[in-house]
Amino acid sequence: MFENYNAPSDLIPSDPRFGCGPSLIPVQFVKDLADTGVHLLGTSHRKQPVKDLVKGIQEGLRTYFNVPSDYTIAVGNGGATFLFDMIALGIVEKKATHFTCGEFSQKWFKSSKLVPWIEAEEVSVEYGKGITPELISGSDLIACTLNETSTGVQLDQIPGMDENTILAVDATSGGGQCPMDVSKTDMYFFSPQKVFASEGGLFVCIMSPKARERALKLNDDKSRYIPGIMNWKTCLDNSDKNQTYNTPAISTLYFLNEQIKLMNKEGYEAVQEEAQKKADLVYGWAEEKPYLSCFIEEPKYRSVSVATINVDEKIDVNGLLKKLGSDKIVYGIDSYRKLGKNQFRIGLFHNIKLDDLNKLTRLLSNAIESVL
Ligand SMILES: Cc1ncc(COP(=O)(O)O)c(C=O)c1O
Repeated sequence: MFENYNAPSDLIPSDPRFGCGPSLIPVQFVKDLADTGVHLLGTSHRKQPVKDLVKGIQEGLRTYFNVPSDYTIAVGNGGATFLFDMIALGIVEKKATHFTCGEFSQKWFKSSKLVPWIEAEEVSVEYGKGITPELISGSDLIACTLNETSTGVQLDQIPGMDENTILAVDATSGGGQCPMDVSKTDMYFFSPQKVFASEGGLFVCIMSPKARERALKLNDDKSRYIPGIMNWKTCLDNSDKNQTYNTPAISTLYFLNEQIKLMNKEGYEAVQEEAQKKADLVYGWAEEKPYLSCFIEEPKYRSVSVATINVDEKIDVNGLLKKLGSDKIVYGIDSYRKLGKNQFRIGLFHNIKLDDLNKLTRLLSNAIESVL
């Protein structure tokens, strides 16, 4: 259907990367890292240059999210998936309730479910619907996902917690640009390869004093088996010294630190406003075109970080994306693989320019309308 499509040159975006993660890493970051020459890559994480990087990340995030001074910013290897298990093993005391609405929130639930000495409960909605978490009596941890990357649903609000309940938020693909007051959460964690434009393999977990206390308390419970690599006390002790427990990828730390500096130049408020403008552009386009529709029907749950747009079944989305990909014009906007919909899933991350999204939407319309 699209084998012979030729994109008009004025509709070609300046960068083809619109994927929902890993996201667009600015090429300038890579050049700047190369310019550090012999002074960073190949350095131990116990030495000052790498500790300075970790400190830069921790202080930068504290400023960006206006994190209260008694909160801890923990950093470690393994990414958000690793934290799913680390939370199930070392933070949930007796029972976790998971609010799920897609692949990633369910993956986290499955991690909790596997731990034999805790109970895990799932409150779910079908894919494409949004969910609003609540405080559940009898649960000591409420798990929710700021932005469900597989479907493009974001949280509309979070509940207040009582003194015995931890609110844990997986902020992997929305953290930094989807609205949320981090000081109202107990654990706000993410892998940095989305809005924060870095590589994978790392986690950042912003923790309230209540969450820290829980981690240290359960660490002393010798009846629990917690693997050494997932030990919260070790993680917290190292993070307090601006270190990770085991050896991190320096490039991941470097890119993350650069991105935080970039985002701090604008500030959290301004970044959220920009994200909203991008979302308005993409969802507005989907509402205007008869062959498109928004996958998320309720506007309050539509993500400002990942937009999912249904396309009329007559249109061969995979064929179109294959052609645009082989022409090196657009990468990564196919539907989440397990969702298998005739759909575009478009990253609205901070480094993806509004002007490029404007070109992308016009380009996709131009291609589709050429075959209608
Ligand atoms: C919402 C969400 N949670 C968790 C993950 C897993 O992150 P990682 O692969 O870094 O463990 C992802 C990855 O896309 C995600 O989007």
